[in-house]
Amino acid sequence: MSRRSSSDVLELFSQKTWMKVCAPMVRYSKLQFRNLVKRYDCDLVFTPMILADSFCKSAKARDSEFTTNLFDTPLITQFAANTVHDFVGASYMVAPFCDGVDLNCGCPQRWAREMNLGCSLLKSPQKIFELVKECRNRISKPFTISVKLRIGENIQETIKVCQGLEHCGVSFITVHSRTPCNNTGPINEDALKILSQTVKVPLIGNGGVNSLDDAVGLQERTGVKGVMVANAILTNPAIFKGEKVTTRQCVQDWLDICYNSTLTMEEHERTVAKDEANQCYAISEKPSSLTFQCFHHHLVFMLEKILNKKERQVFNNLKQFSTVQEFLAQHLGIRPKLFGREHFVQSLPLNIHTESRDFLYNELKPPEESVCTEYDFLYDSSKSNGKFFEGKLTDEINEDCDWTDMFYEND
Ligand SMILES: Cc1cc2nc3c(=O)[nH]c(=O)nc-3n(C[C@H](O)[C@H](O)[C@H](O)COP(=O)(O)O)c2cc1C
Repeated sequence: MSRRSSSDVLELFSQKTWMKVCAPMVRYSKLQFRNLVKRYDCDLVFTPMILADSFCKSAKARDSEFTTNLFDTPLITQFAANTVHDFVGASYMVAPFCDGVDLNCGCPQRWAREMNLGCSLLKSPQKIFELVKECRNRISKPFTISVKLRIGENIQETIKVCQGLEHCGVSFITVHSRTPCNNTGPINEDALKILSQTVKVPLIGNGGVNSLDDAVGLQERTGVKGVMVANAILTNPAIFKGEKVTTRQCVQDWLDICYNSTLTMEEHERTVAKDEANQCYAISEKPSSLTFQCFHHHLVFMLEKILNKKERQVFNNLKQFSTVQEFLAQHLGIRPKLFGREHFVQSLPLNIHTESRDFLYNELKPPEESVCTEYDFLYDSSKSNGKFFEGKLTDEINEDCDWTDMFYEND
C-alpha cells in the first residue's frame, strides 16, 4: 500500500486567502464524512474529539477512534487532555497518520468540566501552555499543534491566552466566538475581529455559519484566516462548494463512500470480477468499519431539506442498511456504486501501529498512572443516553434543529 503523504497545514494557510474547515464533531467527523467533505472544497478536516487518556491506555479506544486513509489529508486529530503525558503521548502516537493535533479547550459539557477538560482548561491557561509547549518540543514541524477555544466574558483574557499560546509555539488557533455559557446565540464577531488583529498565528473563526456566503462575510468582516463549520456542514456537506442544500450527487457520494468502505480488498475484487451490470450492491448489515447509526444519521441530516415531512418520518425511523438503500433507490433513484480499483485502494483504511509509538507516553507518564477511564458513551452509541440524536427521530423537532444543542444536551 502506498505511503500517506503529509500536508503542511501552515503552508496551506499562507497559500490561501482563507481556509474552509470542517469542525471536529463527536461521532460525526469520522473518516467517511471527512472523505465526503473533502470532495466538496473543504480544505482542512478535524477528527471528533478523542479522550487522550483512553487513547493512550486502550488499544480498543485507538482502533475505534482513529482511522484514516490516503484521501484524509490535511487532517487534524483533536484530543481532550489535561496532562502532558496524555496529550504528548497521544499526539506522538498519531503523528505519522495526520498533519497536526488540536487541544480541545472549548467543550462545555458537564462531564468534561468535571474532568477538568475542554473549556475548564481556560481557567488555568498555564496548563494549556505547558501542554502545547511540551508537544511542540517533542514533535517537529511542519506537524501543527493547535488549540480550539471559546471566548471568555472578558476579551482581554482571551487575548492573553492567545498571546501566551503564540509564545509556546502554537501553530494556529480556532476560536468558537461564543462563551461557554452561550451555546446557540449569535456569535461575537467583534471579538473575532479584535483577536485576528492581535494574534499573529492564523486564526480560524467558528460559529453560526450556515452558507458559503455567511462564511465569506464572516471572513471579510473579521479578517480570520479560516472559517470552521459544524452544524451546517452536517445538513449540507457541499456547503463550501456554494450549494444551498445537499445535492443528489452529494448523497450519491456518501452512499458510494460508505458502501466501498465496508468492503475488503478481496470482496472488492470479487465484485469487480462479476458482471457489474447485474449487480445490486448492498451494504452488509454488519460491516466492520461503519456503524448503521453513522451511515443513517448523516443521511437524516443531509435529506432534511430534500424530503417532505411524511418521507422524513419514514426515513428517520429506518433501522437497517437494506431498508435505507431501498428507500434511496425508490425516492431518489440512488444506488451505491463500486469504486474503480485505484480509487478503492486509496480509500482503504491505513494500518496504524500505534503500539510501536507508545514509548513516549510510557516515558512521560507518572508511575502510579494505570487505570483506564474509558468514557464509552462518547465512543459507543449503544451506551449513550441517546439524547444526542433522539430529537431527530421525534420528527417535528426536525425543523430548524440546532445540533449544537444536541451536542451540549448530553450534560
Ligand atoms: C454534533 C456536534 C459534535 C461536536 N463535537 C465537537 C468536538 O468533538 N470537538 C469540538 O471542539 N467541538 C465540537 N462541537 C462544536 C463544534 O465544533 C463547533 O464549535 C460548534 O458547533 C459551533 O459551530 P457551528 O455554529 O458551525 O455549529 C460539536 C458540535 C456538534 C454540533
